[in-house]
Amino acid sequence: MITRKKIIAGNWKMNKTSADGVALVRDIVAAVGKQADVEVVVCPPFTGLEAAGKALEGSNVRLGAQNMHHEAAGAFTGEVSAPMLRAIFTTHVILGHSERRLYFGETDETVNRKLLAALKNQLRPIFCVGETLAERESGATLKVVQTQVERGLEGVGKDHAPSVTVAYEPVWALGTGKVATTEQAQEVHAFIRGLLVKLFGEPAAQKVRILYGGSMKPSNAPELLAQKDIDGGLIGGAALEARSFVELVNAAAAAR
Ligand code: 13P
Repeated sequence: MITRKKIIAGNWKMNKTSADGVALVRDIVAAVGKQADVEVVVCPPFTGLEAAGKALEGSNVRLGAQNMHHEAAGAFTGEVSAPMLRAIFTTHVILGHSERRLYFGETDETVNRKLLAALKNQLRPIFCVGETLAERESGATLKVVQTQVERGLEGVGKDHAPSVTVAYEPVWALGTGKVATTEQAQEVHAFIRGLLVKLFGEPAAQKVRILYGGSMKPSNAPELLAQKDIDGGLIGGAALEARSFVELVNAAAAAR
């Protein structure tokens, strides 16, 4: 049986100045910087990436961005590219977050372009999918997730598949305090695993980590992380304080 190393990734969204981010990273490094059983990733805003990267140097904590453009360079005012992220030792990049789809017009097609560009540049995508409340209530959850997964991963070869991490984030659970039940989450995670098997074959699909995101916190994490297909968490609010984030890393270590 394959054991997948769990990932706890903090999506800071539009929070923390560079200096505040450094302070948070220092606290995280002091507590779990040597953690080798869980992949720990922090994703500051662009302005805080480089300083956070320096603060985590020498630890096992990894650096992620929250978005990128699919082109390497050019006339794209306000954008940042994969080679630029790589140059400051970014290893991961969140792509297709529902807030980007909702507020910034990202589509399955643009997310797919970014994902392919990230892989080409040896960045590990944390690829987000998830349904809205209206979609869940109309019974469309699995169909919506299927379309996002299939379109987002178009053109990814099976050799690259294990570098991709999928994050299932039901939109209605983001920042709302409403968490999906373990059964709701595991159902969608298992469904995503099945889609990955169809796309990449069993061995590659079994290596892909599928994270849950949506009001995950120390009180609900152990039960979620104990599920067969829940390989970690993409954390918003609880990633903004060292204490709760570190507790989540420890919960993931205990759930191995
Ligand atoms: P919350 O943990 O604040 O619900 O946010 C989750 C999220 O959107 C992570 O990407």
